[in-house]
Amino acid sequence: MQHLHLHLPDEAATARLGAGLAGALAPGLTLYLHGDLGAGKTALTRALLHAAGHQGRVKSPTYTLAEPYEVKIAERMVTVIHFDLYRMASPEEFLDAGFREHFNENTVCIVEWPEKGETVLPPPDIHISLMIAQHGRDVELRALSDKGHQCLARLKFAPNL
Ligand SMILES: Nc1ncnc2c1ncn2[C@@H]1O[C@H](COP(=O)(O)OP(=O)(O)OP(=O)(O)O)[C@@H](O)[C@H]1O
Ligand SMILES: [Mg+2]
Repeated sequence: MQHLHLHLPDEAATARLGAGLAGALAPGLTLYLHGDLGAGKTALTRALLHAAGHQGRVKSPTYTLAEPYEVKIAERMVTVIHFDLYRMASPEEFLDAGFREHFNENTVCIVEWPEKGETVLPPPDIHISLMIAQHGRDVELRALSDKGHQCLARLKFAPNL
């Protein structure tokens, strides 16, 4: 399954998609989150992390650029790193922080504003694009790698539960 188009009528639907993704992820995946300010990138990530067992807060790592979480993915504890590159000043900032090493077979990396890190970011397995649509959101999920395809094939999402 390469493309999925879904409508998320309200924030609860965003939360269900986050939970679905938590159940479908595997270590080694990189997800790019696209969408305007307020489109729901952090809301989706927050729902995913809570569904994977994180109990504390999830706030956007706007100034630190990256925030790690130890959560349960595919039946084991995995580090999920939430990036928000909106305020990244230069590619060197990303490289000097050692962020590239975070993208490996043992982690899941979720990146808000990947456009700001184009020259230094490893490629994604899945693109997720959120678009404001009236009162809700439209979302497109697109797999770019075999691992990404397998993840979307596992995704369970019931839009109208
Ligand atoms: N399906 C939905 N329908 C309507 N509102 C939603 C939906 N999903 C999330 N929201 C709301 O949209 C807003 C999304 O904010 P969020 O911080 O997640 O955006 P963001 O894409 O991370 O923005 P930024 O680029 O500033 O980081 C929140 O106010 C949330 O309640
Ligand atoms: Mg955000």
